[in-house]
Amino acid sequence: MTAVGIDAIEIRTGKLQLDLPNTFAPKKGEDPEKYTKGLGLETSSFPDVYEDIVTMGANAAKSLLDRKGLAPDEIGRIDVATESAFDHSKPVSTYIAGCLEQVYDGDFRHANKGERKFACVSGTQAIDDAYNWIRAGRNRGRAALVIATDTALYERGDPGEATQGAGAVAMLVTEDPSIVELSTEQGYGSMDETDFLKPNQQFPSVDGKRSMQVYLSRMREALEDYESIVGPVEPDTVAYAPFHTPFPGMVRKAGLFAYRHITRNTSIEDELADSIGRQPREDDYGSREAYEEAISEYMDALKGTDRYQDWYAETIEPTLGLSRVVGNWYTGSVHLARTSALRDAAERGLDDAFVGERLLVGSYGSGAQAEIHSETVRPGWREEIEALDIDEQLASRYDLSFEEYTQVHEVHDYDKSVDVEEFTVPDGEFVFTGWGRMNERTYDYVE
Ligand code: COA
Repeated sequence: MTAVGIDAIEIRTGKLQLDLPNTFAPKKGEDPEKYTKGLGLETSSFPDVYEDIVTMGANAAKSLLDRKGLAPDEIGRIDVATESAFDHSKPVSTYIAGCLEQVYDGDFRHANKGERKFACVSGTQAIDDAYNWIRAGRNRGRAALVIATDTALYERGDPGEATQGAGAVAMLVTEDPSIVELSTEQGYGSMDETDFLKPNQQFPSVDGKRSMQVYLSRMREALEDYESIVGPVEPDTVAYAPFHTPFPGMVRKAGLFAYRHITRNTSIEDELADSIGRQPREDDYGSREAYEEAISEYMDALKGTDRYQDWYAETIEPTLGLSRVVGNWYTGSVHLARTSALRDAAERGLDDAFVGERLLVGSYGSGAQAEIHSETVRPGWREEIEALDIDEQLASRYDLSFEEYTQVHEVHDYDKSVDVEEFTVPDGEFVFTGWGRMNERTYDYVE
């Protein structure tokens, strides 16, 4: 069977940054270490006044098409995953295609366009749709363009304000891909939950602590479902485990739960038993409370073992690099985690030896659904990852003062109309220019 997977990735960060420990925490009267150590965040990205989900998505897509030398008629499908859409009917993919058609000869007239919604898991779902379309033989040799783009803003004063971010990840899904092949096998954990939602409102209603519990429960179910197909996942068979990263502290928790799960009934559990005992089994306890207390004690002990810390340092920590400096990109977040992992492999000097290695990818969307699948690294991975210019983009972000941050938040609040000067100068990119006669948002390409 021909491999299908991700052939190219381009990332576009919002062009502004907020320094969380040094600018945000002092104004909130909080300890900076809540951000650096607790949540695991240094800075978050914000869109300048002329940026939004369309410009960031279109700019990422343009970089991707240019780098791969692709013409519009070589793209058979454009799917945008977002939870920041401003239009209940016309999909963001049409706005992005319209932008791209301003600068390319040819058009996307015969491409199937759509928009995927299921909170942060929809980027992965859009990749699934592309995979299925190619596997079904409906692509006529063409590639699918998947764009995960979000402006993750919370109401001012909401606890989620600490974890904001903005950016887009564009991915090309093809046969015989250069970066990773996707597994056919997938596991799901899905339940009707009320942890994070936006019922006809721009900023989310969030039960933050509940969303963390739901994340862990649905991920566990997805892992069990995945293992029911492929058999038990063994820690040493996974090079990296990129998970959805609303903030790195969430993944620190998820990593520990995952390790407990995948080491149960293994020689690793046996080896650790001398120092921390065996994992508690529910049948050995008289009540659910007693069992949960024992689990909690075991987890604390497991966290302190060298064995766990080594696994975490190799398999999880490298997936958090970009998230730490950009914040939550909702639909793009797990795709940043994959990219961070591959960047780590490139920095470690891995090349051919990394081909064939496996990533265990865990996506999550509130509401709620988790999905787990695996990806196998392909021979062209390193060249693709080294072509990214995300370090230059991050280094050139404008560093906001707290007052400027409050202005930027208002500029992107649909209920407010404020006039704020742009902080950066557009240069060879799509920009938001205003509203058209039917209240549609309008865009231009600035040379
Ligand atoms: N030094 C070190 N760590 C500190 C600290 C300090 N001075 N102060 C706080 N922390 C730690 C806390 O112990 C906590 O870590 P823990 O959960 O491991 O105990 C972490 O920093 C966050 O602090 P907390 O007080 O829990 O933050 P909060 O109540 O302001 O909100 C969220 C945190 C995640 C609930 C909030 O940001 C949110 O609602 N986010 C949006 C929803 C979300 O992202 N959900 C995730 C699933 S998708």
